Amino acid sequence: MVFLKSTISDLVGKDLVTTQEWTIEELRAAIELAQELKRLYYYRGAKGLPNYLEKKTFIMLFYAPSTRTRAAFETAMTLLGGHAQYVEARMTRVKEGEALKDLAKMYEIFGNGVGIRILDKAIDYKYGEGHKVIREFAKHARVPVINMADDQEHPTQALGDIMTVEEKLGNVEGKKFVIMWAYAPIIRGYCSINADMLIATRFGMDVVIAHPPGFELPEKYIEWAKQNAKESGGSVEFVNDYREALQGAHVVFPRSWCSRKLAELGAAAFGKEELEIYKKYRDWRLKVEDLDLMDDHGIITHVLPVLRDYEADDAVMDSSRSVIYEQAENNLFTKAAILVLTMGGLV
Ligand code: CP
Repeated sequence: MVFLKSTISDLVGKDLVTTQEWTIEELRAAIELAQELKRLYYYRGAKGLPNYLEKKTFIMLFYAPSTRTRAAFETAMTLLGGHAQYVEARMTRVKEGEALKDLAKMYEIFGNGVGIRILDKAIDYKYGEGHKVIREFAKHARVPVINMADDQEHPTQALGDIMTVEEKLGNVEGKKFVIMWAYAPIIRGYCSINADMLIATRFGMDVVIAHPPGFELPEKYIEWAKQNAKESGGSVEFVNDYREALQGAHVVFPRSWCSRKLAELGAAAFGKEELEIYKKYRDWRLKVEDLDLMDDHGIITHVLPVLRDYEADDAVMDSSRSVIYEQAENNLFTKAAILVLTMGGLV
């Protein structure tokens, strides 16, 4: 590992709410550490991993469900010699009126880091509502606060995703990363879309976002992606034809996301109309025949859960181009790296 000492010490206690608040050196340090942890785990097993977080506790507050993120963070803490506490928000006193700042102070006292997930149904899909909660926590807790997915972003997921893309493609600069809107009969937020758009533009990729009209991403994220591309030498483009986008793609991520109108009004007010709009775009599915449009060595990614036969053909997700399970595995190691770095495991 060739980290700068100053990068490592700067990260102790640092929140990870958005990757935009970490420098490129800090993001690189996290990926390098994740690669090192993965190597150790592969060659020497769980016992080969140092107890970087011995006697430390990471408190994970979930307002919304999870298959992967909870399991990955919890396993990471076990592998690093520490402990993860799983807390469902509904089982806390918040619903009885306890102030968020008091909750934040409690977890600062009992834990060495806090992770929060709050999105989708937990906030009626209203853009900004989950992010506000994470920011409030981060303001009051003097321990690192990690965004485990809110309505805007999923930063630890993005790190695992770009690690996987680099593993598969080598140097990713100038490679084409297509994030393609896809039909699904349920409403989903923006978090992984924004997160992957940000990290890929940060790492110099040529990012193309394909979506039907009305499904534009939030303005702030579009502006960030443009700025990232300018600084990294990459590019970002938005198109309304997914087949055009797929031409020569090195990476394709098919995923449903909600319209701006839904994100503004919420599902209680606009959910039924939103699902009717989706039906007009049923054809937006990554099909087996679409793979011929991609680069010969192009890969399919997905943060999961994937809605098979809606977002992509079942056969696409099981094809030799699909890297979804490796992506999930790398997400374990990037989450472990974030915990080590922010909770002071290397100092
Ligand atoms: N990718 C991801 O965050 O999965 P979960 O929602 O299952 O945690």
